[in-house]
Amino acid sequence: MNWNNTIIDNLQWSDTISNLERKEHVAQKIAARMKDNEVIGVGSGSTVYVAVCAMAKRIKEENLHVEVIPASLELSMTCQQLGLTQTTLWCRKPDWCFDGADEVDPNRSLIKGRGGAMFKEKLLMSCSRESYIIVDESKFVDRLGSKFPVPVEVFPGALLYAEEQLKQLGAREVILRMAKGKDGPILTENGNFILDAWFDHIGLDMEKNIKSITGVIESGLFMGFDIEILTV
Ligand code: A5P
Repeated sequence: MNWNNTIIDNLQWSDTISNLERKEHVAQKIAARMKDNEVIGVGSGSTVYVAVCAMAKRIKEENLHVEVIPASLELSMTCQQLGLTQTTLWCRKPDWCFDGADEVDPNRSLIKGRGGAMFKEKLLMSCSRESYIIVDESKFVDRLGSKFPVPVEVFPGALLYAEEQLKQLGAREVILRMAKGKDGPILTENGNFILDAWFDHIGLDMEKNIKSITGVIESGLFMGFDIEILTV
């Protein structure tokens, strides 16, 4: 029996998509990469959303058999809406994955997590043999942390300890990310808080140092991943 509902069918991206034309251009590069019978890890954010739309079009036109593993509920709902077949990391290992980014530095280190999904995004990237980052040129920076804070997912009970430790690591400001459309702080899909930590300097060991704070689930710093950057 099928549901006779409209919510998923009527979903749209929750915000205006900036630089849409450029995102559509880079989305085509992802859609063109797909091969029949592949399992693809799908990150999160508006660029990924545009890419998934391009993938769905090609899958339909060419009758490809592709399975996807999305990094967030909103992308999972998008995949459902577009008729993509979804699987999980319990069933399949991704052949490759792709994702967006908030900042990309000259060493291909990234800040991600504006959308709050960095834990599963990093998990997908860790599991994938190949990873592609799709960005328009607004995402390139000389120094990580110049436009965006480092998002840190924290177990709620560890909030104050994590704030203290992030400051010890050099954070000049640590802000609890507040929700829009809900009172109080954002809760991640794992039921945790997000601290946005502003750093003037992010050294090579920062990702590891943040991760070693008890109560930190994951951060949005992605350093040392073997990734290919695809841009317009
Ligand atoms: C989601 O948690 C993020 O890591 C996104 O991949 C990142 O914020 C880029 O998003 P946009 O493609 O919307 O700029």
